[in-house]
Amino acid sequence: MALPPQFLEELRARTPIAALIGRRVRLAKSGKQWKGCCPFHGEKTPSFYVYDDGFHCFGCGAHGDAISFVMQSEGSGFVEAVEKLAGEAGLEVPRASPTQEAAERLRIDLHGVLAAAAKFFQRKLFAPEGARALSYLRERGVSDAMIAAFGIGWSGDGRGGLATELARADATPAMLLEAGLLRDPGEGQAPRELFYNRVMFPIRDRRGREISFGGRILGDGQPKYVNGPETPLFSKRRTLFALDRAREGSRAGADVVVAEGYMDVIALHQAGFAGAVAPLGTALTEEQLEELWRLSPSPVLCFDGDAAGGRAAARAAELALPMLSAERTLRLASLPAGEDPDTLVRRQGPNGFRAVIGSARPLSDALYDLIRESHGDATPEQRAGLRTRLMDAAGKIADKSLAGEYRRVLLDRFFAARPFRGAAARPAAKFQRRQVDEAETQAERARNLVAILLRHPDLLHDVDEAFGQLVLPDALAALRECIQDWAIATELLDSQTLMDHLTQSGFAVSVAEVLSHFPTPLPICASADAMPAEAEAGWWEIFGLMHRKRLEEEVEIAERDLVAHFDQTRVRRLLALRAALNALRESEQG
Ligand code: UTP
Ligand code: MN
Repeated sequence: MALPPQFLEELRARTPIAALIGRRVRLAKSGKQWKGCCPFHGEKTPSFYVYDDGFHCFGCGAHGDAISFVMQSEGSGFVEAVEKLAGEAGLEVPRASPTQEAAERLRIDLHGVLAAAAKFFQRKLFAPEGARALSYLRERGVSDAMIAAFGIGWSGDGRGGLATELARADATPAMLLEAGLLRDPGEGQAPRELFYNRVMFPIRDRRGREISFGGRILGDGQPKYVNGPETPLFSKRRTLFALDRAREGSRAGADVVVAEGYMDVIALHQAGFAGAVAPLGTALTEEQLEELWRLSPSPVLCFDGDAAGGRAAARAAELALPMLSAERTLRLASLPAGEDPDTLVRRQGPNGFRAVIGSARPLSDALYDLIRESHGDATPEQRAGLRTRLMDAAGKIADKSLAGEYRRVLLDRFFAARPFRGAAARPAAKFQRRQVDEAETQAERARNLVAILLRHPDLLHDVDEAFGQLVLPDALAALRECIQDWAIATELLDSQTLMDHLTQSGFAVSVAEVLSHFPTPLPICASADAMPAEAEAGWWEIFGLMHRKRLEEEVEIAERDLVAHFDQTRVRRLLALRAALNALRESEQG
């Protein structure tokens, strides 16, 4: 029984292969992969590698995926191995219906048809009728090695040669239609060849099997490229050109790079960038991002240096945001104006493109500029809108703690880019200026106090009353209420739990603002690694700056309290309060 490929893909994706193999082989992390002594031949030094989708032994050549590992190590058959893994993955092995079996047979046949067509096109390129195409490729600098590696060919003139040739391999016109090589012109006319007078670029799946073609016209003319239609084998949105080669390249350590077109990818591979791929003439899709992340945690997307390139980069970033995690991000690179990777490596050699990769910016860094460029920040209204857009963008990240990090980074950039206050807005009189500064200072102190509590919520019970009586701006007051309600209800006063709770309660933006290093950097006692005593003393010191009298009262209360009930908690509290008061007094004298 043939199992549907989607099921097998799903099974492979759901099987943690390192864990599976790790039950039999002691594995140690080695870069992105795992390494151990091969279970299939006796060895003392490890040459057996486990990747995210398979294993390979450089000693004996044993090679395969999770399913073949079970087969080889347990001597079981394919179906048996699949059933075992499916059981562990909680998947049900589908039973094929007769129509599914027929569809599967067709699929196998279609692979054969496309492989035969690819051979046919390649032969034609080196036949006399392919001479113009071959010299076109050579003029464009494509090496014979790349022509062979990518299987580049020539379509022929489209007058039935393909169908005749493939009939010899038992392929019917119906199958050629299904494979996307012929098209039906309708109105009862005979099917025609889709590709004629074109340089043929085979499109291959991740395992290197032909699934469709792109065909380029020689020289100028429209359309420049014709691509095969969607078929049972070929889905444009799921496929990346040269993915099969990039998988190998990335395993050997090459950067995974996304370029725009066929010729770019070929030129990059020729120049030694073995991790280059391209989508098929459309914007990058979620499915393609998933494929990229199977190869690299941080693929590089290349965009033109012009406005259109900027928009494309913004779209890609937008698409990626919900899918980001600590192990899945992007780098964005922009090409010199007027160049594509093909022209760049031709003009400047590999170093030219190496510089492009080298200057790629992490998404967290590039995102601010992408959003600002598409939104503008010239007027206060635009700035207010921009800020909302930035927070919305971070809010799209499903991974909560990562979303929090992005909010902070974006807000920091937002405030760092704060335009100078215009002359009109600047208070004229000295007196007035001092008032403004005083109000700003108090607001910053209040923000610092909240920040310390977000990082050290275990202080909440100690400072509860003082915190509750602080005069806070509205936004912070609402945040405080949520924090205090949580502190009453929760058992464990843990920072991450508190932040998650606040995010869920709609305070994500307020939290990011409180933890931002703008307008002024946060004090050290507000950092996550501050010692508890340091955080507590720091809290009271800042509090004392705002409400000196109240701090002195707190010290007295704590002294009396300690006399009434002596314990370590009360000692600590009094020490923190005294330290704060002393620090205040010292700074007044100093
Ligand atoms: P480009 O126009 O940038 O082509 O389109 P290119 O790859 O640089 O090709 P050359 O250098 O002119 O030969 C980028 C990609 O967009 C798709 C193709 O996948 C192409 O590689 N495309 C472009 C089409 O599908 N159809 C077209 O008519 C044009
Ligand atoms: Mn080009």
